[in-house]
Amino acid sequence: MCSMASRASFTAAWCVLPARVLLVLTSHKGIQMYESDGSIMVYWHALDATEHPTAQAVFARGIAAASGRFICVGLSSGLVLVFDIPPKGTNVTVSEVLAEHSAAVTDIAAELGHAPDGAGDLVSADDSGALCVWSSGEEFALRHRIPALGCSCSSVKLWNGILAAGYGNGQIRLYEAASGALRARVDAHARWIYALDVAPATGKLLSGAEDSFVHVWQLGRSPDTGDIEIEHCHAECVPDTQVCGARFCDARGASFAVTGYDLAEIVRYSRA
Ligand SMILES: *[C@@H]1O[C@H](CO)[C@@H](O)[C@H](O)[C@H]1NC(C)=O
Repeated sequence: MCSMASRASFTAAWCVLPARVLLVLTSHKGIQMYESDGSIMVYWHALDATEHPTAQAVFARGIAAASGRFICVGLSSGLVLVFDIPPKGTNVTVSEVLAEHSAAVTDIAAELGHAPDGAGDLVSADDSGALCVWSSGEEFALRHRIPALGCSCSSVKLWNGILAAGYGNGQIRLYEAASGALRARVDAHARWIYALDVAPATGKLLSGAEDSFVHVWQLGRSPDTGDIEIEHCHAECVPDTQVCGARFCDARGASFAVTGYDLAEIVRYSRA
């Protein structure tokens, strides 16, 4: 599991693997991996011209841990680098380079619940709005490609086979990870969605956007048909703030934290 801490051109995430926790930082210069307390730099990967032929606006964005020993990082070239992380030590290697996106990768998410049989367990999104669903493992396999929408997909999450995607036009779309089929579409925000998060224990979905709103939704499946359902639970306005980061603070989604552009603080909300 990885937790995105910021969403600018500089991103940071704690990647929790069974054997160790690494702090992964990305910037236009490269990808750095540290021991979780920041004490030792384990690995440094420079972003060079071979991974980014046009040499413009190079950045890495989207970080996720997968299959217990891999960390995936998306690049502005559209490539996804898969790093093989040893249980200890510094012998981090690039085990695969996934080349299915034709636009800059914007986010990557691993399954936070349990992937249904046959469903992928990793999703990557790009600036054209295209999504790729992968099954991770010794070799990563593309399961589904969900075509571009004409609008950037800024944030994705995967929970019990439900793929939640937030877009630049303020929409949230829910797809079946096992088939790639669109199941629900919500005009959730008036402006760009910057952050989605899922509370793994309850399936609560958090969305935060430029329109200064944060919404909490409940994801689920119909007991009769198994269809994906979404229900609005709660709205919060952060006055005069373009929300650029929003995260649940606990696995049940009882509290969440929000930050915004030009906001020097993190605002925390919890259920009374
Ligand atoms: C480093 O890891 C790679 C891939 O797991 C392995 O093939 C290689 O032998 C390792 N090298 C060392 C020096 O341990």
